[in-house]
Amino acid sequence: MTQEATGAAEAVAEIEVLAKEGKSYPPPDEFKAQALVTDDSMYRAAEEDFEGFWLDQAKELVEWFKEPTKSLEWDPPHCTWFADGELNISYNCLDKHVEAGRGDKVAYHFVPEPIEEEPRAITFAELKDEVCRFANGLKELGVKKGDRVGIYMGMVPELPIAMLACSRIGAPHVVVFGGFSAESLGERMNSTGASVMITQDEARRKGGLIPLKHIADQAVEQHAPSIEKMVVVRRTGGDVPMKDGRDLWWHDLVEGKSTEFEPERMNAEDVLYLLHTSGTTAKPKAAQHTTGGYLAYVAFTHKYVFDIHDDDVWWCAADVGWVTGHSYIVYGPLNNGTTGVLYEGDPTYPDVDRHWAIIEQYKVTQYYTAPTLIRAFIKSGPEPVQRHDLSSLKLLGTVGEPINPEAWLWYWRYVGGERCPVVDTWWQTETGGILISALPGVTTLKPGSATMPLPGVKPAILDEKGKEVPQAQGGFLVLKKPWPGIFRTLWDDDERYVSNYFSKYGPDTYFVGDGARQDDDGYYWLLGRIDDVMNVSGHRLSTIELESALVAHEAVAEAAAAAAPDDLTGQTPLCFVILKSGYEPSDELAKELREWVGEQIGKIARPKAVIFGADLPKTRSGKIMRRLLKDIAEGKELGDTTTLRDPDIVEELKERADELLGRSGASA
Ligand code: WTA
Repeated sequence: MTQEATGAAEAVAEIEVLAKEGKSYPPPDEFKAQALVTDDSMYRAAEEDFEGFWLDQAKELVEWFKEPTKSLEWDPPHCTWFADGELNISYNCLDKHVEAGRGDKVAYHFVPEPIEEEPRAITFAELKDEVCRFANGLKELGVKKGDRVGIYMGMVPELPIAMLACSRIGAPHVVVFGGFSAESLGERMNSTGASVMITQDEARRKGGLIPLKHIADQAVEQHAPSIEKMVVVRRTGGDVPMKDGRDLWWHDLVEGKSTEFEPERMNAEDVLYLLHTSGTTAKPKAAQHTTGGYLAYVAFTHKYVFDIHDDDVWWCAADVGWVTGHSYIVYGPLNNGTTGVLYEGDPTYPDVDRHWAIIEQYKVTQYYTAPTLIRAFIKSGPEPVQRHDLSSLKLLGTVGEPINPEAWLWYWRYVGGERCPVVDTWWQTETGGILISALPGVTTLKPGSATMPLPGVKPAILDEKGKEVPQAQGGFLVLKKPWPGIFRTLWDDDERYVSNYFSKYGPDTYFVGDGARQDDDGYYWLLGRIDDVMNVSGHRLSTIELESALVAHEAVAEAAAAAAPDDLTGQTPLCFVILKSGYEPSDELAKELREWVGEQIGKIARPKAVIFGADLPKTRSGKIMRRLLKDIAEGKELGDTTTLRDPDIVEELKERADELLGRSGASA
């Protein structure tokens, strides 16, 4: 064993001992002494006057062109918030701070992936100028209020600039994560009717290049005829073909443009953006977020969950392409005038300590990441962390999936130096912002629990029939009351909004899709998805998306997918495939299918293994028994197989799966 590996193993052993103690962690005195909230007054205020509480927050945290007098108006399953208010989000994120004399404050420390490239500090004033210039450029291209604008980029400053320019005009943006395939991108552009799309020549990733423009070209040519103009940021200088009449360079478009652009007066309920997420059907759906309620909610949760002070340096290490980046890299922090880090690249490039080096260099005070990354850090041991002075850190956060107590404790001890509260924040693309989380100056933490609902948030845990389950028993998580950040519907598909989220328990109960339980102290423990949605490195992926991708391959007759547990990514897709006649199972074909899925959906969807079988486990009526595929994927003892048409099939699949995943028999 190398020295580093020993360190890692020792740390894990220590942490296991700690986890067994099952201790809880009240706010450290030093933290509490400076915290924004240290008592239950906010919880009480929301309890006593729910609507008044949110209206006060909205007025305090957001600057309105016309202040709202209305708070929640609820006509289940639909709601509006602050509906008579008028505002502009980019005004709140930029002008508000410049006008208050804070234009010189840094909005983003942009850290390029190549270590030899100069980082860049961008002030609020500079950001405002760039946003206005680009908004003028978009206007020249004909973009106006209500038009959808597609964005497919890496983590470069032009990404938030483009989003803010859209919000200045009132044009909803549709950001697609830069890891998605041409097909996924094209589908998302087409279904939202975007006519302008913004991309970059290439993105940097782990020392390599991702050909974003090339993928965007394919997306437009094969799937999204609605795109008329493509604006391209020159990031790497790579040679990319530009199509005459359709493509233009960002730098040419903004050349000579004014740094003034009158922000559009938006109604609180006007659409701010659409963002796709996986559900239980093959087609991803686009959550529709609005202007006033969303901004108030992300501002509130950013400020109080992360205990943000004026001189803090905030780092949300997500990608802007996901909701976490929308809410906590762009809108929440900028509205709150917070200095943030925007890092372009991979956490392990050029070395596993890259994040710690950045925290040390910029004296980051709050760091927010996903459990999957923490588990990766644990593998390389505490040494890379200990190379750096992380004493600037005051608070740590996690999001995206349940965090196991061991990962929580490791993070708390080795990254936070036993001094920083770790807030485990539970939320979804649909919820717009955090719903269940500690308030770090108030809540006693329990490793592995997202703790309690935030003020004004009303979860419950129900059984199949809609009755609240007794404490300590698991059930379906629901939300009994709207909050300002809730999505208002699914783009162009209100029917699906109702059937997906508000049909199981009726129109006034939002069905989350996660299992949860409450312990004796009332703490919430999230148990993962209860539907056919898996969570790979904190990213949602539905089994049906995978299956549709597979059956689109010429060799595949039938396919089914299930989630296998994975040390690093939480879950990983496992695919069962029946080949068409004329095709033979082989390692090459398995590899080809894995790559195929990666190309169809995006790399995160690439299955860990493809298992060929003569058939899928089906009932006599031909229904696939997903429960058995789940047992196989999870390495469990097989459940009841007596109703199967051919019980041998499932035994064969199981053997093959255990072999491919390196499991010995039924233990896992
Ligand atoms: C899961 C990401 C446990 C959950 C912001 C949810 C979590 C889905 C947590 C939403 C957490 C997110 N603990 N599970 N702290 N945070 N999840 O839409 O299953 O990408 O339904 O939003 O991730 O994923 P989404």
